[in-house]
Amino acid sequence: MIYVAVLGYGTVGSGVVEVLERNKEAVRGKTGDEIKVKYVLDLREFPGDPVMDVLVHDYSVILNDPEVQIIAEVMGGTGAAYTFTKQALEAGKSVCTSNKALVAAHGTELMHIAEAHNCNYMFEASCGGAIPIIRPLRTSLSAEVIDEVTGILNGTTNYILSEMSTKGAEFDDVLREAQAKGYAEANPEADVEGHDAGRKIAILSSLAYGQYVDYEDVYTEGITKITATDFKYAAALGTRVKLLGTSKKVGSKYFCMVCPVMIDAENPLYGVMDVFNAIFVHGNMLGDCMFYGSGAGKLPTASAVVSDIIDEARHIGKCLVTNWDNSRLPLMDIGEVENRFFVRMKGSLIDNLCRVEKVFGKVQAVSVPELADEFAFVTDVMREAEYREKAARLDGILSMIRARF
Ligand code: HSE
Repeated sequence: MIYVAVLGYGTVGSGVVEVLERNKEAVRGKTGDEIKVKYVLDLREFPGDPVMDVLVHDYSVILNDPEVQIIAEVMGGTGAAYTFTKQALEAGKSVCTSNKALVAAHGTELMHIAEAHNCNYMFEASCGGAIPIIRPLRTSLSAEVIDEVTGILNGTTNYILSEMSTKGAEFDDVLREAQAKGYAEANPEADVEGHDAGRKIAILSSLAYGQYVDYEDVYTEGITKITATDFKYAAALGTRVKLLGTSKKVGSKYFCMVCPVMIDAENPLYGVMDVFNAIFVHGNMLGDCMFYGSGAGKLPTASAVVSDIIDEARHIGKCLVTNWDNSRLPLMDIGEVENRFFVRMKGSLIDNLCRVEKVFGKVQAVSVPELADEFAFVTDVMREAEYREKAARLDGILSMIRARF
């Protein structure tokens, strides 16, 4: 028997208990032993729920029980979750988590502690929910030199952008609808401002390139300024706007950024709609590879946590190697990163194209018949700094979205 404890009986925590119960035989087959939840830690009571038989309110009960070898931390946050994880690893108990905020902020230190105490700190559920991506980066793709990771890493914003794209709706209206359906948090800031995706691309990049990427170094722009009008142009251009987390090697340097990007149907991420997530990886031997699936939700996320519990159960007393060095990966200045730029401008196309091309050179111009007072253009590839310098010389720019097509 392998005893585990679950910290937090919220959505994911109750999902972990459910997956272990419903898939008990499948889990036993893969582990060679039964995995039993000995404790669930939560401050609340759950009258009538069978969890009451194993519910504890005091973490020291779990920490001081030598029978507990694996802890699933699904309480979230970087306060108590950090302290509890650290104490568990120092006691030689493996920990797995869905807590991307903790992995992004303290993953390097926690993996180091796990290594020193012959146990593991795993976080398959921290990025892309049920999509297998952390383990593939750690193992299946370990022969690769990876030079790009680009993902739709946030289900909430992908749902909002998909609805805006297909229904022509405005951001605020779709956000309200997403909140009513439970697809967006009451406080949606971390999602819509791109911080959630920023933490996830930092985690994936740390694994892909072997040096840790500090999420605070990731250039981040959210989707709050994207409008229904942008999608009218996107349709005219045969493109969609997606919130992409991208990290890429350019020469010997790397950049890492989260921002809305216009992509066309040739991009494998174009067809990823609604709450789905997908992660595109490019390796020097494998070429292109994409991982797709449910990026959130109780049971998909819990399933990923349980996959870590099984992996840790199979490796009691042995720390598995993770290619995540504790030196910080220096990132390129965002001004050096190259993109095309989709730019909306006041006025008519005929009256202004000459002026635009004097500054930007040849551009791809686009107008939408129902938008009489404005037009748009897509520049050639250029550095962000060059775009900013040129845009500052042109009166009448309304907005800009990066374009990769
Ligand atoms: N808020 C996150 C999302 C949850 O929408 O993707 C999963 O990390």
